[in-house]
Amino acid sequence: MTNRTDSQSQITSGQNIQGRKILVTSALPYANGPIHMGHLVEYIQTDIWVRFQRLIGNDCTYVCADDAHGTPIMLSARQAGIAPEELVGRYFAEHQRDLSAFLVEFDNFHTTHSTENREIVEDIYARLDAKGLIARRTIEQAYDEQAGMFLPDRFVRGTCPNCGAEDQAGDNCEVCGRTYSPSEVIDPKSVVSGTTPVQRESEHFFFRLGAFEDSLRDWTSSGHVDAGVARKLNEWFEAGLQDWDISRDAPYFGFEIPGAPGKFFYVWLDAPIGYMASLVNLARRKPGTPDLNTFFAADSDADVYHFIGKDIVYFHTLFWPAVLEGAGYRKPTGVFAHGFLTVNGQKMSKSRGTFISAATYLEELDPESLRYYYAFKLGSGIDDIDWNLEDFVARINSDLVGKFVNIASRCAGFISRGFDGRLADKLDDPELFDEFVAAGDDIATSYQAREFSRAMREVMRLADRANQYIDEHKPWQLVKDESQLPRVQAVCTQGLNLFRVLMTYLQPTLPGVARAAEAFLDIEPLTWHNRGTPLLGTVINTFRPLMTRIDEKAVARMVEKSMTTVPPEPASPDGNTESKISLDTFLGVDLRVAEVIAAEAVDGADKLVRVTVSLGDERRTVLAGIRTAYDPQSLVGRQVILVANLEPRKMRFGTSEGMLLAAGSGAQEIFLISPDAGAQPGMRVR
Ligand code: MSP
Ligand code: ZN
Repeated sequence: MTNRTDSQSQITSGQNIQGRKILVTSALPYANGPIHMGHLVEYIQTDIWVRFQRLIGNDCTYVCADDAHGTPIMLSARQAGIAPEELVGRYFAEHQRDLSAFLVEFDNFHTTHSTENREIVEDIYARLDAKGLIARRTIEQAYDEQAGMFLPDRFVRGTCPNCGAEDQAGDNCEVCGRTYSPSEVIDPKSVVSGTTPVQRESEHFFFRLGAFEDSLRDWTSSGHVDAGVARKLNEWFEAGLQDWDISRDAPYFGFEIPGAPGKFFYVWLDAPIGYMASLVNLARRKPGTPDLNTFFAADSDADVYHFIGKDIVYFHTLFWPAVLEGAGYRKPTGVFAHGFLTVNGQKMSKSRGTFISAATYLEELDPESLRYYYAFKLGSGIDDIDWNLEDFVARINSDLVGKFVNIASRCAGFISRGFDGRLADKLDDPELFDEFVAAGDDIATSYQAREFSRAMREVMRLADRANQYIDEHKPWQLVKDESQLPRVQAVCTQGLNLFRVLMTYLQPTLPGVARAAEAFLDIEPLTWHNRGTPLLGTVINTFRPLMTRIDEKAVARMVEKSMTTVPPEPASPDGNTESKISLDTFLGVDLRVAEVIAAEAVDGADKLVRVTVSLGDERRTVLAGIRTAYDPQSLVGRQVILVANLEPRKMRFGTSEGMLLAAGSGAQEIFLISPDAGAQPGMRVR
């Protein structure tokens, strides 16, 4: 990867960065669920890298979009009784709000359900077809006669043909691990209607992936992916590259294939093209910004980097480069895959309260604490990363508050009180300052290589060193002796200059803190290259705490809330199937009309209301996360719908004996469901 090596050596030499043009993308979140802590691993990782590129003087464009199409989104909308456009419209606003709250700063956030995307998809498809790269074949597929639709593999469940395990996915068995085709499944059932699907024929369109094997092998072995991903790719080459089915039959939420009524492009064809569409949308909105050809023309010498999770490597390292090449575009400079998030060593879980949405986190904690913690944990590989909640609290309090911010807070007061905010005219220990500046070369190399963990550790080692310097010179003692006052100013000026260099190193990770530090030091935005020029003889502003300690109670509250406000699980065609249930499972839910007879706010939990309801001959107490939307008193006398056969759940504030049904997407938007007048408490709801 010559480009990458070039920019790396430019960085380490610390000079003459020739503003490289770089396009960076993060994978497009599905538009049927909220942003959660797992997604944020990726958006934060990418954003840190982008901010680093800008800090060293590269010209970096960062785009993303919502991934709006596909069967799960169509079905989610159907379940909600709204048009898919409306569903994706809601998440479009919510995703941008949540991501920007975590200081993830895109140049553009678009959607795959857009004019730009349709245009580019149609154009790419036409180019592939003209080159004979699209094959048409009739295939047999499971069809749900009741729902009137073909069923993706994940929407058929049944008994494994290999080991006999029941209720397995249509394409593989979780018990014995075998993969098979949905037609082999014993006693298959449609996840959509619960009926037995039939096999039906339909013509599908296939992309001839195999035609690109040689060029993909070359691309894989020439530094565009990391070693771990390259190994995976080699396994796939050995297994053989199959043609890729890029069409789906109506009903489908997506783009109809031109000249093929009732046939739609499969979501995974148009999703990565969404990167291009977002770029084009940006260029159209802001003339003068780079356009599609700047980055994607076959002879472009700009860089294109995709950040993705390890679950979508196949799409980004085989299908996507092949589609690009087939359509006459260049292939990506780099595809960077990261691992999955675990919380306290386990998969995120709703029942443990560790399936935490961005919005819930933000109600209790500061976004930059998470950015630092993820950076502290992230390397360049595909290992999973663990968010250990106890370690998180300890790490932020000791590293950021105890070490880093402390450098500034120990020095600032003396300068403000004793010297009207004026810094000394020269450094007390120029060698130490130079040591800090020189350490930047290694830190830059780490950032560039996505070894953020290494970068953070190095910065903290330096922060220890800075605190040690202050400890040695003890300005709090010097200040007692009038004749030593110039020393106080010199020592604190040195301390603040060391702080400033470290702030530069942390700027990509803590951009909000950096902005506040710039205001405090009264300086222009920090850059990597001017870090070596000390700040002398200028006047600083009054210091205000740049970060505060995390109270572990806030973390406990976040977990508690995540148990009650369950975010709808996005149903992914290629991922988990948790949100799809059989008709039997659904009918097994005992829904009852209930009347609220008492309701009170729960002390210490600002979202919870303790609601006592009557089912006619029985009473239940439910802890409902509805306080942001309802005044408890207003609920008394109202009829609601109770999930009556949930296992009682012990929470910190008592036991909850059921759940109340409500519509809405989160804390700000909750609409309790009530029956029409005339219903009686205890009535079954069907
Ligand atoms: N829509 C596709 C991507 C299309 S890109 C052309 C998709 N969406 S997603 O919402 O499921 O995930 C978006 C990104 O977040 C993916 O890169 C995925 O790997 C990442 N993550 C989602 N859950 C994650 C964790 N629990 N942990 C870490 N990353 C995770 O995939
Ligand atoms: Zn099996």
